[in-house]
Amino acid sequence: MARIAVAKAADVPDNGPLLVTVDGVEIGIYRVGGQYYAWRNVCPHEAAPVCVGMVCGTRLPSRVYEYHYGREGEILRCPWHGWEFDLKTGEHLAGTRKRLKGYPVEEEAGQLYITV
Ligand code: FES
Repeated sequence: MARIAVAKAADVPDNGPLLVTVDGVEIGIYRVGGQYYAWRNVCPHEAAPVCVGMVCGTRLPSRVYEYHYGREGEILRCPWHGWEFDLKTGEHLAGTRKRLKGYPVEEEAGQLYITV
């Protein structure tokens, strides 16, 4: 395991990733609710570059014929088939065992470090 400085925290855009490459692996860094998360830019479904997908919200559980949208800015939607992933946990929202591959992110004095 190695802890690598990858970016300045201020370089991570709102509602979008900062894409970095570490040892040939492309990783998207996101800021959600003031916390940083790093996900490999490969969708666990069919390997799309998931980090170019939209950061959005999703439909919340509701009764039949009721539609409630929420969690804006917490969901990553894959650009190929629309699978939605929780940006905080990497979990697929439909409850499959598929999930994004993540890396721990630490911030110190405005510098972001990823452990790979
Ligand atoms: S490749 Fe991401 S949803 Fe299919």
